[in-house]
Amino acid sequence: MGVEELLEGFYNQITYEKIGKELSEYKGVVFCGMGGSGIAGTFASKWLNHRGVKIPAFVIKGYELPPFVDNGYLVVCISYSGNTEETLSNFEEALRRGIKPVCITSGGKLKELAEKNGCEVHEVPKGFQPRYAFGYLLSKALCLVGITPEEMEDAKENLKENLEKIKEEGFKIAERLYGYIPVIYSTPLTDAIAERWKGQKNENAKTPLYYAVLPEMHHNEVMSWNNPSLRNKFHYILMYDEKDYHRVKLRVDITAKLLKDMGIVPIMLKGEGNSYLSRALYLVHLADWVSVKLAELYGYDPMKVDTIERIKQEIKKYE
Ligand code: F6R
Repeated sequence: MGVEELLEGFYNQITYEKIGKELSEYKGVVFCGMGGSGIAGTFASKWLNHRGVKIPAFVIKGYELPPFVDNGYLVVCISYSGNTEETLSNFEEALRRGIKPVCITSGGKLKELAEKNGCEVHEVPKGFQPRYAFGYLLSKALCLVGITPEEMEDAKENLKENLEKIKEEGFKIAERLYGYIPVIYSTPLTDAIAERWKGQKNENAKTPLYYAVLPEMHHNEVMSWNNPSLRNKFHYILMYDEKDYHRVKLRVDITAKLLKDMGIVPIMLKGEGNSYLSRALYLVHLADWVSVKLAELYGYDPMKVDTIERIKQEIKKYE
């Protein structure tokens, strides 16, 4: 299947399943995962926080679990391949602490270990690059932590209805970004989306992309604008959500004004949709189209991730 065909079917990955946990039984929720799998955990924890869940929800992207994570926590290990060593390390550490992690994977060692240790496994279809299976991974993660079928359906329909519009907008943005290093100024409700944009630009288009988050960036990053010779290498994007805190939205406007005063026209991005999830996925899908178009403009294969694979092989030598 070609990459465009793959992206055109993205909305079909968004599916509801009744696998939810009763979160009130837990002290907190920890998602563990790296890269294209870990981002599903980032999104699910953001979604839980946005919905006002009264327990901490966060993501771990590395080998170690924080010391306070004990068997009162719901630990969700997400690895598409099931062979990512950082996530396997989290899984094993959780077992040592008496936790039975819930696993989301297409197979590999994670599935094997989970089954051997009597842990719950939620399988996603095989045969994808992890980042192109984001919809499957995210759907499982959200279903585990209590999304409703209606919310899921709304997000899916929103993607389906807006597919052509998103694709067209994505191609136009790619043309504008071509030749520049994109920098996204995001907000507390869009930083996870900015992280996905970064991953997609890095892996699909072989392009660096950096992001900073408001309001923090008003206390440091803004000073970098004083340096025009470097500033002109970047293309700025401002990304926010209609439900961001009112003073954060004010800061988005101030940022746009300051950039315009310097003769810079930022790309303003706000997701469309009825819910936070729908709007977030709108922008996630936009990143898909921007990144594959940019890959085409730069002449790269959006599927290839040879350096990532090489590092995985290199580190394996030291097992
Ligand atoms: C490749 C990709 C990578 C992987 C990451 C972790 O498409 O997106 O970022 O997701 O190297 O591997 P998995 O997802 O198999 O745990």
